[in-house]
Amino acid sequence: MAAVFPEGFFWGGATAANQFEGAWNVDGRGPSVDDHFMGGSYEKPREITLEIDPDKLYPNHDGIDFYHHYEEDIALFAEMGFNMFRMSISWSRIFPNGDDAEPNEAGLAFYDRVFDCCKKHGIEPLVTMSHYEMPYHLVEKYNGWASRELIGFFENYAKTILDRYHDKVTYWLTFNEINCGTQDMGNLFETSMIQGYEGPASGVHTSWQDRFQALHHQFVASGRAIRYAHENYPALKMGNMDCFILSYAGTCDPADVLLNQEQMRLMNWYCSDVQARGYYPSYAKRFWREHDIELQIADGDLDDLKAGKIDFYTFSYYMSNIVGTHDVEQAAGNMTFGGKNPYLKSTDWGWQIDPTGLRYSLNEIYDRYQIPLMVVENGMGAYDTVEEDGSIHDPYRIAYLQDHIKAMGEAIDDGVDLIAYTWWGPIDLVSAGTGEMRKRYGFIYVDKHDDGTGTLERKRKDSFYAYQKIIKSNGAEGLE
Ligand code: BG6
Repeated sequence: MAAVFPEGFFWGGATAANQFEGAWNVDGRGPSVDDHFMGGSYEKPREITLEIDPDKLYPNHDGIDFYHHYEEDIALFAEMGFNMFRMSISWSRIFPNGDDAEPNEAGLAFYDRVFDCCKKHGIEPLVTMSHYEMPYHLVEKYNGWASRELIGFFENYAKTILDRYHDKVTYWLTFNEINCGTQDMGNLFETSMIQGYEGPASGVHTSWQDRFQALHHQFVASGRAIRYAHENYPALKMGNMDCFILSYAGTCDPADVLLNQEQMRLMNWYCSDVQARGYYPSYAKRFWREHDIELQIADGDLDDLKAGKIDFYTFSYYMSNIVGTHDVEQAAGNMTFGGKNPYLKSTDWGWQIDPTGLRYSLNEIYDRYQIPLMVVENGMGAYDTVEEDGSIHDPYRIAYLQDHIKAMGEAIDDGVDLIAYTWWGPIDLVSAGTGEMRKRYGFIYVDKHDDGTGTLERKRKDSFYAYQKIIKSNGAEGLE
């Protein structure tokens, strides 16, 4: 049976400023933390340099230069039929140092142009305030979200962009994949606590205390931004963004089931329980005690959490893994690791492909919160080949797309209030995890390579037309 997507369903794609805008030091933009990340690969972790070394290659500096190609790129999205485009604002384009008294007008004007262009094409922007980045100065001076002072800087930034764009942008997300902050290495991307970093092999490990205190600061900051939006611009819709890593119990051994419940709470539920309900979940106290976490909660913080409840829940979904007490072979993954599932195939980067898990996750999330859901990232990184005639055949990507859309259709039929789907990286961009260009997600190919070369020419892949067909029929066709 063909999937039935509701009238007005949002179809689109998702991006992040640091991974595709480029123009890292143009028009008054300050360096962001990602500008210090070099390229890596599946085998080799990305290296961070605390100072920018002019002799080294930093792939985020140029991205795919959306900054100068936005009109062409948004026109291509419109040609595919997008009615939603997820993007983020680069915090250091607006506040170059993060603690500046005044915003950078040239940075604000850039996003006016982008939103106006979306409007011209009938595309609704979905805007992430902070997608894995912050001005580098905030890292050097405050060690990122380790410091409570970040709350005020973020609040000021959020108010500035809400005041400026409230009549151009209705849908907002505060932090990308906030729950990655629960993970040991989540500091590299999510909380930016990287002072003292000494090289790729060691990374900077964080204590449970530091991680959960940093998350508390983010919950309060997110709460204040949402409270401000609700009080001043009631038409706006405010959401969270979680990296949903579904895990299954490795066996039916009750010890595995219990361990997996703990893993699901830590990875997937802790942050969204706070953001969707407005208070810490009942299991948090024991968790804090057993991990020697003593949260510093200031007067008014719990009110900010309560007032900052989200209107809709969003998440990324790429893969699943297994968790258990028995030995299992480890699988690679999106910001986290887990066991290999013998029933699933994997991408070239080892991420296990599980569309049924998407249907299951949508049902679990909706049962828990009963608010509208958006899948705001989903996709597969793959090697693409450009044929001599310039065509790019990517049946693997089309199959992944179709299977996940079918799973969403099933979930809607199950009763889930799903309102949007934005594929990750509708246009090739720099990988967050590895810094590679050759790990491609796009329906649109960009001639840009890991060594920094390339003409930046855009080309339509076969998947461009496949997604176009699905969107045109609102999910009724193109899934066979
Ligand atoms: C998500 C991030 O975790 O996964 C994106 O929000 C990221 O920023 C995406 O790009 C895919 O991961 P990767 O490492 O393949 O780029």
